[in-house]
Amino acid sequence: MNPRRLFQRRPKVASEVVPEAAPACPIPALDPARIPRHIAIIMDGNGRWARAQGWQRVRGHRKGAEVVRSTTTVCAELGVERLTLYAFSTENWDRPATEVAALMQLLKQFLRDELPTLMANQIRLTAIGQLHRLPAAVRRTLQDTADATAKNTALDLCLALSYGGRDEIADATQAIAQAVQAGTLDPARITAKTVQKYLYAPDAPDVDLVIRTAGEQRLSNFLPWQTVYAEYVSVAACWPDFTPEELHAALRMYQARDRRFGKVT
Ligand code: FPP
Repeated sequence: MNPRRLFQRRPKVASEVVPEAAPACPIPALDPARIPRHIAIIMDGNGRWARAQGWQRVRGHRKGAEVVRSTTTVCAELGVERLTLYAFSTENWDRPATEVAALMQLLKQFLRDELPTLMANQIRLTAIGQLHRLPAAVRRTLQDTADATAKNTALDLCLALSYGGRDEIADATQAIAQAVQAGTLDPARITAKTVQKYLYAPDAPDVDLVIRTAGEQRLSNFLPWQTVYAEYVSVAACWPDFTPEELHAALRMYQARDRRFGKVT
């Protein structure tokens, strides 16, 4: 789809619907020149959403997987370069075994079902995290999907799986120490750029925008290195209710911000 059509057709979110009698208040359109290169999303509230309808938590995760599909497709259409989704944190391993198993099963199913959509939308799938801790079947499906989509160019969809920001920095530090010990790296020459090279996805651009759903306002160990100058938007809706309109609203908030990166404008 031509991205321009999306800018023109964007439907209103409930909070923006202006009553008939009120004076017209135009909703600012998205500026195609200021679409964030890298969006990172903390998909929170699946459990609360399910419980609110009297359902098991896993139904919230299932609906959440559908929202992953719609959000990813819209990001590809908008011209976002990279979308990182916090799908499973290192802390999530401590959830009840049944929920962990259901999430792993859902992930495997999602990867299998989504391949045609990923290909049709030119989306490349990658993953970051302590992937060796994932069940072998999930690792295989991840690898197959990554291989099949490796040449796609519209959007990098990166799933953070078994991911913890402190672990990522600790893993990078270990690798740096090994390089120093092997004599291939001079400690005096270690800079922030060196550390970046040892992260899980060294070539990924810094995160421009972090979105967290379910009204929470925490980063929860998500991409601490990459988000140092990210803009943060908290959305009230739980992840299963996160619509393309909510995404557009978050992007308009992002575009209204003045990003100075510690300098003066
Ligand atoms: C947080 O909500 C969500 C998760 C820990 C899992 C996210 C998983 C999905 C969106 C679906 C599967 C993902 C893919 C990529 C197919 P929560 O369960 O902590 O919600 P709560 O805070 O309301 O309990």
